[in-house]
Amino acid sequence: MSLLNLAPVIPVVVIEDVETAVPMARALVAGGLPAIEVTLRTAGALEAIARIAAEVPDATVGAGTVRTAADIAAAVAAGATFLVSPGTTPALLEAMAGSGVPYLPGATTVSEVLALAERGLKELKFFPAEAAGGVPYLKSLAGPLPDVRFCPTGGVRPDTAASYLALPNVGCVGGTWLTPADALASGDWARVEKLAAEAAALR
Ligand code: 3PG
Repeated sequence: MSLLNLAPVIPVVVIEDVETAVPMARALVAGGLPAIEVTLRTAGALEAIARIAAEVPDATVGAGTVRTAADIAAAVAAGATFLVSPGTTPALLEAMAGSGVPYLPGATTVSEVLALAERGLKELKFFPAEAAGGVPYLKSLAGPLPDVRFCPTGGVRPDTAASYLALPNVGCVGGTWLTPADALASGDWARVEKLAAEAAALR
């Protein structure tokens, strides 16, 4: 399974209230975005992954902000079907490779990308996308490294997503704009579904 081909946009979500996880996931799927990255940044993140995995069969739920081998073990035990890390260390890479699920290791620099490509990893998260150079940076990478594809995340917004997606070395983008904190807090699932539908139509 190529994680970059699941949808044009992977919603990166921060779950403050675990009760919002299932209706949020249903709204994202209804809008056309089935791949959901739940960041391990809140106390309820693992429970949110477990609930989405159990109750929203059409969602492909993964864990983001994975930083340690313990994160990976806990995420996979909860039901995460993919992993995303903001950057990559040798220990993290070993743990992701041993997890049994697909993963997107994070990379920013040319040398980091080369080190992962050397290991056969050619689908990567590019983070923090906008701060690290955005579209022009990725365009530059496509020259020497045409076989490596990215999911740029970090600072990507609805008005910039299309320019990333137009690049030959971008498979999808990630972002938090699909699930604004106030929409989650107020249960505005129609808004989440609308944002997802607009994003799904980007390509
Ligand atoms: C990430 O972990 O990928 C970023 O926090 C995404 O956040 P943003 O879309 O709000 O920049």
